[in-house]
Amino acid sequence: MKPFEQIASKIDSELHHYLPRKWKKIGDIVILDLSKIENEKEKIAEIYAQVLNVKTIIQKNKISGELRKPEDTELLYGKETVTEISEYGIKYKLDLAEIMWSPGNTGWRSALSGPEKVSEFYTFDKPKTIIDYFAGIGYFSIQMAKGYPETEIIAIDKNPRSIEYLTLNAKNNSIDNIKIINDDCRNIELKADVIHLGYIGNTIDFLEHAHNCLNDNGTVIFHEAYRNNWLGFKSRSEWGTIPEKFAKLMDENNFTVQKFERVKFYGPSTSHIIAKLKKN
Ligand SMILES: C[S@@+](CC[C@H](N)C(=O)[O-])C[C@H]1O[C@@H](n2cnc3c(N)ncnc32)[C@H](O)[C@@H]1O
Repeated sequence: MKPFEQIASKIDSELHHYLPRKWKKIGDIVILDLSKIENEKEKIAEIYAQVLNVKTIIQKNKISGELRKPEDTELLYGKETVTEISEYGIKYKLDLAEIMWSPGNTGWRSALSGPEKVSEFYTFDKPKTIIDYFAGIGYFSIQMAKGYPETEIIAIDKNPRSIEYLTLNAKNNSIDNIKIINDDCRNIELKADVIHLGYIGNTIDFLEHAHNCLNDNGTVIFHEAYRNNWLGFKSRSEWGTIPEKFAKLMDENNFTVQKFERVKFYGPSTSHIIAKLKKN
């Protein structure tokens, strides 16, 4: 029996219509939406926890603000919100009550340790310094530090709680070529050969600062979400080519687009994209 069938078999059939068939399993914690269930939520959450073999069930909630924090975490089952995730040879600890994690980005966080289409974006020519402007708990910085052991990685994040986990994660993975800074990236004027912008929302607002801090011929890895209409792609086969409007926008910001791909759908009409940009 599939997990959902097992779960449903233990719950009154009148409620089956309201039971979530999808959830996010992050380490040994599940995030799901039981908001349509009025009574016995805790009992139902316990059944999900048993079948899915996790210690905690968290109600799905909004991720908000510049720091991308989960709002008012509601525990449906269990108490522990700290979990550990293994991705491409790196272990990350984080507290899901305070910090977001996107399971959908997994392959794209692998830098040089995963699929070729990802490592092509993350292959740089002997960089001396790479700066990650939105390092979080280390999703990209630690993989890049592992992939480039001779390079100094500077990992910046504004959120002190993310920085605590980033420091712990670097230590637990025996990474020592990483310097960690708790600040707004726009306050940091350090120079680099590569600047990583792993952010969604208003990434373009950080491009001028990145341009000023990049060495000649420097590279930016740019993440953002755009409407599919604006990108102008009609079929799957067009992904990987560089959309004209995007190339023009980057040109206006003094960058040339070298590579472009979709990471995943981000809502029904929007896509999370990644681009490799060269400083003009
Ligand atoms: C959405 S998270 C990164 C998600 C991650 N890329 C992933 O794959 O799951 C963005 C991070 O940027 C940080 N941040 C937001 N604005 C910032 C700023 N101006 N300077 C430095 N860090 C910032 C937040 O604290 C957060 O940790």
